[in-house]
Amino acid sequence: PDDAAPSRSIRPKDFISTLPTRGGWSTPLIQYNKYWHRPHVLSETLRVQDTFRPRADDIILVTQPKCGTTWLKALAFTITSRARLSFADHPLLTRHPQHLVQFIEMPDPHIIGHAHVDALPSPRLLATHLPLFSLLPHEMSSGDGCRCRIVYLCRDPKDALVSRWHFERKVDGYHMELEEALAMFCEGVSECGPFWDHCLEYWKESLARPDKVLFLKYEEIMADPVRAVRKLAGFLGAPFSEEEESSGVPREVVRLCSFETLTGLPVNQAGGVDHGNFYMPNSAFFRKGVTGDWANHMSREMGEKLDLVVREKLQGSGLSF
Ligand code: A3P
Repeated sequence: PDDAAPSRSIRPKDFISTLPTRGGWSTPLIQYNKYWHRPHVLSETLRVQDTFRPRADDIILVTQPKCGTTWLKALAFTITSRARLSFADHPLLTRHPQHLVQFIEMPDPHIIGHAHVDALPSPRLLATHLPLFSLLPHEMSSGDGCRCRIVYLCRDPKDALVSRWHFERKVDGYHMELEEALAMFCEGVSECGPFWDHCLEYWKESLARPDKVLFLKYEEIMADPVRAVRKLAGFLGAPFSEEEESSGVPREVVRLCSFETLTGLPVNQAGGVDHGNFYMPNSAFFRKGVTGDWANHMSREMGEKLDLVVREKLQGSGLSF
């Protein structure tokens, strides 16, 4: 450890004020443990690091922002609860997917039966944007932490960047040039970034422990959603029975969680959640829901620039986009 590094034992607020900060995005980002965090999430992140205890039967959905969190929450929730919930009056018809699965680092008072994640009954279905393996190396590599199941969803970084760029405008009313956003992203400065380091943490674990860490890509779900849903259900220990297959349950899961179904529901068109220090409209999580939209916003050269950076960073890992 660096002797000059500020101590984690001082008050979180004081500690955070000692960390590197970068402006450029709608809120400044603060670097902790090599990753960049939004300020309001960082204090919760420190709390997670100090207190979060994974359980052996936890399912944790992990994404970087704008990589398909909303979709993955909807899919995993529907798959894991299908024995007790009917499609006809399913919670997804009246509740935003983000409010059905709680983020570890962002307690959401709008979740029905909200409790701090520590107080939730087992088995828990949780979500996070955090790089858990570097944040909680001991907890995640031994005991219950290495028995829980993790689903990691990532996405072509060009689409993730363009999605983020739009999101900043919509939610924060903030305008920055896409060139500027690209330059920051290529430097590794994006929420939860560097993008490639976040992916690699989970990629390596998925290779080492494929029964515990499932690595998915947005593009792969988009290409064959029924196949992806079967894969997800199998990994989560809830494969579809022959009877479910013949009655079309996998297809029904895909339909219910599709961009078209979800964006057609009133709950996802209006309202939002007040998180105290920021307001999140429900509709902000849905934009186009396609792959390759980056090409409508970035020049070919910009796309190649990002591809090159990412390729270099991922070299030798076996992971590519
Ligand atoms: P776009 O901005 O490219 O449309 P997150 O949930 O991690 O914030 O990611 C948001 C991105 O996922 C947005 O991408 C959004 O439109 C897309 N998305 C949300 N729900 C989806 C769904 N059910 N199916 C496919 N894409 C979805």
